[in-house]
Amino acid sequence: MSKQVKITEVVLRDANQSLIATRMPRSDFEDILETMDEAGYYSLEVWGGATFDSCLRYLDEDPWDRLRFIRSKVKKTKLQMLLRGQNILGYRHYSDDTVRAFVRKSVENGIDIIRIFDALNDPQNMATAIDECLKAGGHAQGTICYTISPIHTFESYVALGKTLEGMGCNSLCIKDMAGIMSPQVCYDLVSALKKEVNLPIFVHSHSTTGLGPMTLLKAIEAGAAGVDTAISIFSGGTSHPSTESLIYTLNEMGYDSGVDLKVCQKINDHFKPVQARFLKEGGLNPSVLTTKIDALNYQIPGGMLSNLISQLTAVDKLDRLDEVLEETPRVREDMGYPPLVTPMSQMVGTQAVTNVLTGERYKLVSKEIKSYCRGEYGKSPAPISAELMEKALGDEKPFEGRYDDTIEPEIPGAKAYLGDLAESEEDVLSYVAFPQQAEAFLKERQEKKALKVSYTIKEAK
Ligand code: CO
Repeated sequence: MSKQVKITEVVLRDANQSLIATRMPRSDFEDILETMDEAGYYSLEVWGGATFDSCLRYLDEDPWDRLRFIRSKVKKTKLQMLLRGQNILGYRHYSDDTVRAFVRKSVENGIDIIRIFDALNDPQNMATAIDECLKAGGHAQGTICYTISPIHTFESYVALGKTLEGMGCNSLCIKDMAGIMSPQVCYDLVSALKKEVNLPIFVHSHSTTGLGPMTLLKAIEAGAAGVDTAISIFSGGTSHPSTESLIYTLNEMGYDSGVDLKVCQKINDHFKPVQARFLKEGGLNPSVLTTKIDALNYQIPGGMLSNLISQLTAVDKLDRLDEVLEETPRVREDMGYPPLVTPMSQMVGTQAVTNVLTGERYKLVSKEIKSYCRGEYGKSPAPISAELMEKALGDEKPFEGRYDDTIEPEIPGAKAYLGDLAESEEDVLSYVAFPQQAEAFLKERQEKKALKVSYTIKEAK
């Protein structure tokens, strides 16, 4: 019997996010969903991450509607989303009632698997989401964010894996958001986890440094249950290893992924003109497609580097990029080595830019980093440096205990505020998650409906 490998296709979520800043409208993929359902993928990652925010902010789409639509076309294949634990899809900690309602509604609207992570690898920040996912009948995939630092050892990852198993997770994911996990490290880490943890292990990486395809292959050789890939036209660079190339390799090596390359070809043909349009109109910058070995030194994840470049370009200071790239790991060390994943990547990056441009370290400290120092994001992996603590908080004492217990329920207030603007609990959740964007979206929807009604009355006369 050939060895089984599960493939998760990420073109609609992570590849979309990593290459084109999640600007793919529904019209670009609605006609290919039924074909994607026939490919034999284990799952499709379609939601969460930045998709929710982007739908409301840029695409004039109801994110819940997008999910329900995908579910209506994808009947066999599991649908998967990425959730930032207590941050759900946003950049701050939400109340437990928000996290629970969001998770429950995600499952109700069609999500099968929720990959739950925390930027700090703090299991307390994942606990509520995992618990609610299991209660709602979803598959909870506990996540280990992979990063390189003096304190992130195999022992620490295995300990986290065991904790997540103890919390009831159905599977584990090793999330290498920066594409910096080498093939050998991946092999050893999967092997170490398999020895101690009795759960299927999934590996997520990026092609940023060029290691990604080799890393996935070694993951599979070490016995990973599954890996994430992107259909070839949306693969490579800050995106992911290509689906077809990996399947081709696995077929030759006697693995069975269940994925049909002929169907992949149809999917790829569908996305070719989409990619070409983004390239032509500037939504896809060709530079994100090249292999950047620097990321191995700076550990800059896909997305973060382009954010730094655009922040510097906006103030006409792109010539300071090298300094910012050197300052970034220093800020990270001061913060106790948080993995560089949302929202930590933005916080570290913005602070590094500020430190370089003001010419004095921590002359200005962002509101977010002050909150982080107070403990509002959970436990920092290592202690925060005394210098940063002092510059950020002055005499103020950091928070003790679980910060989330102090957040008041958010849903009742939001419901009362929105009144008839909200037509469903999902609308209320959109508002709690992204107040400005959701309110604008809901108002516009109401206006459009009112217009339609008056138009229909006129027509009838
Ligand atoms: Co990713």
